[in-house]
Amino acid sequence: MAELGPIDVTSLEIIAEQVKACTRCRLAETRNKAVPGEGNPHTEVMLVGEGPGFNEDQQGRPFVGNAGKFLEEMLASIGLTREDVFIANIVKCRPPDNRDPEDDEKIACAPYLDGQLKLINPLLIVCLGRHSMGYFLPGLKISAVHGEPKKRGNRYILPLYHPAAALHNGGLRQTLIDDFGKIPAILSKIKEIQGQAKDANNKSNNEEQIKLL
Ligand code: URA
Ligand code: SF4
Repeated sequence: MAELGPIDVTSLEIIAEQVKACTRCRLAETRNKAVPGEGNPHTEVMLVGEGPGFNEDQQGRPFVGNAGKFLEEMLASIGLTREDVFIANIVKCRPPDNRDPEDDEKIACAPYLDGQLKLINPLLIVCLGRHSMGYFLPGLKISAVHGEPKKRGNRYILPLYHPAAALHNGGLRQTLIDDFGKIPAILSKIKEIQGQAKDANNKSNNEEQIKLL
């Protein structure tokens, strides 16, 4: 296993190059192609999934299988395409047989996601599934908090069910579609809150305000 030294987060391109050559965890041994993530570097919305599946590992691109098709449909329902947003994953290489990523793999891979977040600085982070949620909102239960935006530090995070989990479960599917549909209103609300904070140097508690959504 390679030493877990720092990585270079100067640009998204430099991050992607390092991901493609990365050997920081055992997933390097079984991957076909690493999946750095892709999209609009100036987006307001960053979507974070769990990790590449079979199709993603083949193509080196995130969410290109059935879950990806469903995700694109939901994006279209709010007037967005995948090119408008940035799509990334917690781990950039496919876990064999689509098993859950392990803790040491998530830790090894985290600097890449952190670098992407720092460079993109999105208004809203949308977590797709509980592994992604666990990274940003540890200790919460997806069944309890899905569709509810949370503020952590200066970041806004929206936990959603994973499209692959929802795809074959009618109830979850509609819940995810409904939650996804809240994104435009959540973005407006965040802009309103940030505008207020800027205008009046308003010290009121944003965590309270976001609950009003
Ligand atoms: N599922 C994920 O979590 N990420 C992908 O990129 C594809 C499927
Ligand atoms: Fe490197 Fe992340 Fe792939 Fe592990 S999953 S080899 S840390 S890019």
